[in-house]
Amino acid sequence: MEPLHIVFASAECAPVAKAGGLGDFVQGLARELIRQGHRVEVVLPRYDCLRLESLVGLEQVPLELRLPYFATTLPCDLYQGRVDGIPCWFIDPRSPQDFFRRGVIHGEPDDPERFTCYAAAVLEFLHRTGRHPDVIHCHDWHTGLVPVLLNEVYQALGLGRTRVCYTLHNLCYQGRVGEGVLRQVGLDARRLMTPERLEDPADPRLVNLLKGGIVYSNSITTVSPGYAREIMATAQGLGLQATLGARADRFAGILNGIDYAVWDPLTDPRIPQPFGRESLAAKARSKQVLRQRLGLAQDPKPLLAVISRLEAQKGVELIRHAILHVLARGGQAVLLGSAQDPRLDRYFRILQRETAASPDCHLELGYDEDLAHLIYAAADLLVVPSLYEPCGLTQMIAMRYGVVPVVRRVGGLADTVFDAHHADRPFAERNGFVFDEPTPEALADALDRALGLWFEHPAYFRQLRLNGMAADHSWAGPARHYAAIYEAIRHPGGEGG
Ligand code: ADP
Ligand code: GLC
Repeated sequence: MEPLHIVFASAECAPVAKAGGLGDFVQGLARELIRQGHRVEVVLPRYDCLRLESLVGLEQVPLELRLPYFATTLPCDLYQGRVDGIPCWFIDPRSPQDFFRRGVIHGEPDDPERFTCYAAAVLEFLHRTGRHPDVIHCHDWHTGLVPVLLNEVYQALGLGRTRVCYTLHNLCYQGRVGEGVLRQVGLDARRLMTPERLEDPADPRLVNLLKGGIVYSNSITTVSPGYAREIMATAQGLGLQATLGARADRFAGILNGIDYAVWDPLTDPRIPQPFGRESLAAKARSKQVLRQRLGLAQDPKPLLAVISRLEAQKGVELIRHAILHVLARGGQAVLLGSAQDPRLDRYFRILQRETAASPDCHLELGYDEDLAHLIYAAADLLVVPSLYEPCGLTQMIAMRYGVVPVVRRVGGLADTVFDAHHADRPFAERNGFVFDEPTPEALADALDRALGLWFEHPAYFRQLRLNGMAADHSWAGPARHYAAIYEAIRHPGGEGG
C-alpha cells in the first residue's frame, strides 16, 4: 500500500494528554501506523495541563491562525513537538474564556464551545499550513464539527480530496447543545438543523455534534464489533440507531489494540522485575513491592485490582461490591480510581474509610500512571463490571500482565474475555470469568468461581493467566484494518468518496 498522510484530531493523546482509553488509542494507533510506513500527525489543544515531560522539542511555530468566532475572529498560536516519536501540533486560541487553561482536559460546562473552537482550529491549521492529508481521523463528539466544516467550508478552500474517518469511543457523550456553537464558527444553523443533518433526535432545539460527525464522515468506526452491534440495534444507540443504521455500509466495529511498547511486563521500566510467559514466577516480586508500598499484608492471598475512571458507566456499585466480596472471601483488593463527579468521589471515600483498618485493602483515589503499571504487574484478578463498555483497555492490559479478568458480558469486554468454565471455545482461548446481569449475585458468582480456582486449583488458574498473556492484542492488526479503510475512502469512487 502506498503510504498515506493521516491527521488525527482528538481531545486526547497519551501520555501528554490522557484522561482515559481515548488517549491510549490515539497514541497506540498513531505509532503503529507510523511503524507501518504512513505519515501521521496529531492535532491537540494546548491544554495548560499537558504532561510536558513526555513532550520532546516543544516550540512555538511562527504562524498565527485566525479562527472564526461569531462576527469576529480569535487569534490562535500554534506549537509543535513530538510525543513518543509522533509529530504533534498544539493549538492555543487566545480566547477571553481561556478555553484550554482549566487544569483539565474535559468535563467543563462550556466543553461544547471549547471543542467547537478546537474543531475550527484543526481545519484552519490544515488550510493555513497547506496540508492536504488523505484522511482526517476524528474521535468522539469533540471533533464532530470537523467533517461538517470540511464539507461546508474547507473543501471549497482547497481541501477537496481530504476524507474523514470518524471513530465513536463512547455514545454516552454526544455534545448535545444549543445551535450557538454553529454560529460560533460561521456555520449556517438553518441549513444544518434538520433531521438528516445535525438536529438532535430527541430534542429538535439542540445540535448533536456526534451525529454531525456520523452524518458527514466517509467512514464511521467504533471500538469493538460487540459495541457496533449494540449501538445499531439496541437502546445502547442512545437515539442514534437510525442514523447509524442508515450508514451500515460505511460503519465497522474494529477491536482496539494496546501499545506493547508501553504495556509489556518483559520491558516495562515501571515494574520492579520483568516477567513473561516463561518467567511468570517473577510476577511475585511486583506483588510484594505493591503490598509493601500500600501497607498490605504479605499473606498468601489472591489480589483483586480495579483500575478505572469512577463513573456510572463502570458499574460503581458493583465495584464496591466486588471489593467487599473478595475481602469477605479471604482475598485482598486494591483500587486505583479517579472520580470527576464529587458524589462518586464521596462514595468511594466512604468505602476508603470503611476499609481503612483492613490489612488487605487499599483504595487510591486519584490518577497515577506509575501505580497503574505496578498494580497490573502485581494483581491476580481485575474486575470490570461495566454497565456498558465500548471496548475497554484495562482487561487487555491486565491479561498481558498475567492478570485474570472478571468482566460483564458487554461491548468489547465480551469480545476479549472468554469464560474459564462456560465459553464455547477451546480451553487455550479461555482467559477469564464473565457474568451477564449487572447484579451483585451474578458478580459474586463469577468472583467465587475465580477465587475457587485460585485457592483450590492453582495450576488451572496459572493456565488461564498464560492463555491471556498469549493473546495478540497488539495494534498491528487493527492498524492494518484502519489503513484499509483510509485507502478505501481516499480512492476516488471509493466508499463514501
Ligand atoms: P475508559 O477509556 O472508559 O476510561 P479504558 O479501559 O478504555 O476505559 O481505558 C482506561 C485507561 O486509563 C487504561 O490505560 C487505564 O490503565 C487508565 N486508567 C484509568 N483510571 C486510571 C487511574 N486512576 N490512574 C491511572 N490510570 C488509569
Ligand atoms: C472510551 C470507552 C472505552 C474504550 C476507549 C478507547 O473511553 O469508554 O471502552 O476502550 O474509549 O477506545
